[in-house]
Amino acid sequence: MREEGLLATTASPEDMELDVGLRPRRLEEFVGQEALKERLSILVEAASGRGESVDHLLFSGPPGLGKTSLAGIVAHEMGAAFRSTSGPALDRPGDLAAVITNLEQGDVLFIDEVHRLPRQVEEVLYPAMEDGQLDIVVGKGPAARSIKIDLPAFTLIGATTRVGRVAPPLRDRFGYVARLDYYGSDDLAAIVRRSARLLDTEVTDGGCSAIARRSRGTPRIANRLLRRVRDYASVRADGAVDGETADTALEVFEVDELGLDKVDRSILESLILKFGGGPVGLSTLAIAVGEDPETVEDAYEPFLILEGLLQRTPRGRVATERGYRHLGIEPPAAADQGTLL
Ligand SMILES: Nc1ncnc2c1ncn2[C@@H]1O[C@H](COP(=O)(O)OP(=O)(O)OP(=O)(O)O)[C@@H](O)[C@H]1O
Ligand SMILES: [Mg+2]
Repeated sequence: MREEGLLATTASPEDMELDVGLRPRRLEEFVGQEALKERLSILVEAASGRGESVDHLLFSGPPGLGKTSLAGIVAHEMGAAFRSTSGPALDRPGDLAAVITNLEQGDVLFIDEVHRLPRQVEEVLYPAMEDGQLDIVVGKGPAARSIKIDLPAFTLIGATTRVGRVAPPLRDRFGYVARLDYYGSDDLAAIVRRSARLLDTEVTDGGCSAIARRSRGTPRIANRLLRRVRDYASVRADGAVDGETADTALEVFEVDELGLDKVDRSILESLILKFGGGPVGLSTLAIAVGEDPETVEDAYEPFLILEGLLQRTPRGRVATERGYRHLGIEPPAAADQGTLL
């Protein structure tokens, strides 16, 4: 994955710091994902009514869409303590045992990147999730013995960007699996408006939509672009950030009107100018833009595909008519090019 840059989906250190401040704390502050919020509020209310913990939950979806935020919200709504760890941090079964034996009645245990839990650690999790029991072998050789400990009731919330990589027996032990999807522009504009208020920055509706439009459906990116626009506005403009100021600011930072950055554009440009719009193989295209194929495939293509600028076909990558038009290039007539979509 691309880790750096204005449009990276993963969190930079600056994001991590600011994510915390901008993170919604209550379900009603969480913008969008209405169907999911409704289901979560039912789960929370029903469990609270019975005086029980909420069933184990799995949140999946691309980075920056609010999985960690939602997990914190569930804990907050339940009035429960929020304990957080991650798959890669739980190296050995003993690491997980240490964490879960420290839980108190009703706590929420959040495991980020749950698809990266080692297999032996997962196996400790199964009886803990199902029967509220810790079942672990201590010692080695003839001295080894198995101990069982009853655990207080807790809620496990797992988060993953790769739900396909969560082992089926683990996935099956979650009472509810929720998928977060990319946000529409109205929701993103509402997120920008909310963050601007928290950052004490005045942004007009036009300014909010200009930022939202370039945010690739991702709240984290929306917040990051807002911060850059705010930087620009504080030194090059004064007063409220309107659409025009936001547009100019983002041009300065080389984010185009669809939220494409330099590499996205260079992928599309190579495809069209060097390979006649395709089809061309992934590795050839990756070499042409100086990136490795995996980065092109995982980090850049999904958004180009989502925006309908590029398609994956069995014969290779192909630029769509919209892809040509986005670069201001007239697409070839459909009759000349059988592959043009
Ligand atoms: N629905 C939302 N409403 C308001 N703000 C949101 C929403 N979703 C995400 N955010 C903002 O985006 C930032 C990133 O969200 P969060 O860290 O929860 O994403 P994530 O899905 O856990 O990402 P990762 O996969 O990288 O861990 C948060 O700081 C929060 O401010
Ligand atoms: Mg997260």
